[in-house]
Amino acid sequence: MTDKRNIAISLPSTGDEEWEATRGPLQSGWLTQGPRVAEFEKAFAERHQVTHALAVTSCTTGLHLMLAAAGIGPGDEVIVPSFTWVATANVVLYTGATPVFADVSTVTNNIDPADLARRITPKTRAVIVVHLFGLCADMDAIRAVLPAGVLLFEDCACAAGASLNGTPAGGLGDAAVFSFHPRKSITTGEGGMLTTNDSALAGTADQLRNHGASVSEEQRHRGPRPYLLPEFNLMGFNYRMTDLQGAVGMVQLGKLDRFIAERHTSAEFYRDQLAAIEWLRMPVFPDNGVHAWQAFVTYVDPVTAPLKRNDIMERLQARGIATRPGTHAIHMLGYYRDRFGLSPDDFPGSRDCNDNTMAIPLHNRMTAEDYEYVVSALTDIA
Ligand SMILES: Cc1ncc(COP(=O)(O)O)c(C=O)c1O
Repeated sequence: MTDKRNIAISLPSTGDEEWEATRGPLQSGWLTQGPRVAEFEKAFAERHQVTHALAVTSCTTGLHLMLAAAGIGPGDEVIVPSFTWVATANVVLYTGATPVFADVSTVTNNIDPADLARRITPKTRAVIVVHLFGLCADMDAIRAVLPAGVLLFEDCACAAGASLNGTPAGGLGDAAVFSFHPRKSITTGEGGMLTTNDSALAGTADQLRNHGASVSEEQRHRGPRPYLLPEFNLMGFNYRMTDLQGAVGMVQLGKLDRFIAERHTSAEFYRDQLAAIEWLRMPVFPDNGVHAWQAFVTYVDPVTAPLKRNDIMERLQARGIATRPGTHAIHMLGYYRDRFGLSPDDFPGSRDCNDNTMAIPLHNRMTAEDYEYVVSALTDIA
């Protein structure tokens, strides 16, 4: 047996370049949203082929901002997948609207368009689809079931650099939000980016992220009329990204395509090397787009696997290999279960994903030997 290794489920790839990038803002004294954030936004918009990109403090605050800018509020319903990170549903509650869950496909882990169609009511104002783990949702099928006027939003937390039929994630619907949390492919510590081609929505979001101010701090400080304070005609929030993060984001964005290419190679290695393990189903490799591989999420067949998923995870942990469930079924979380009277079987696909998905390590700081070690540990269990 090879020596025991310690392999994290995910590690951010940051170093000297990011460190150096923070020097400029620290020396200039302009620390909050300013020139570095503006530069990051411009580059991010270009990379994702959208007209507007607005940096924010996290994907969660960005999703809230997006819904608020679209005027979503009490009395409205917003459909979200039942298998996703809890933030996708929480942001709907922040606005006073009601989250309505739709089931997911156990093959893609993404929202099931047929179930989504069944959840639409006259109160449906929007859908937030999630490109979970970096695989784009089936946007054509989703659009086909949406009545005119229902907004189609993307939760791109895991999808920086992903694309569908040649169009980058972030520009596949009316607006989208990305995450730069350290478990994502590119990171600014915490952080997010709202993208849209809708200038009106972008303008409102721009004000709302800065307390509802009609002009930004930078415009105000650099402007010719020092006596002017901005107008505040909207109730806003403080969701501004710092220039320190903007500087780090620029460096990370420059590495995005390399990170995805490396992750793709590693994903193919896993797929090929683990193909013989019949009870371990591989994630979908799309032939109509780019998977961003934020995570490599397998499915442990509960009928044919030699051990329960959790026992397999414990075995791997004992060998120094971190694994995680893909994510959670929101309708099974205490708050949602109790508030909306939900039971696990209400969304069987989501429950299945909750109970049987297993993310195995995949990130840009793993070596070829690390990947081989994971394969050999799984093969030993098989
Ligand atoms: C699908 C999804 N949506 C939203 C979020 C929230 O992102 P953030 O931590 O940047 O607020 C996450 C984070 O894990 C996520 O996976």
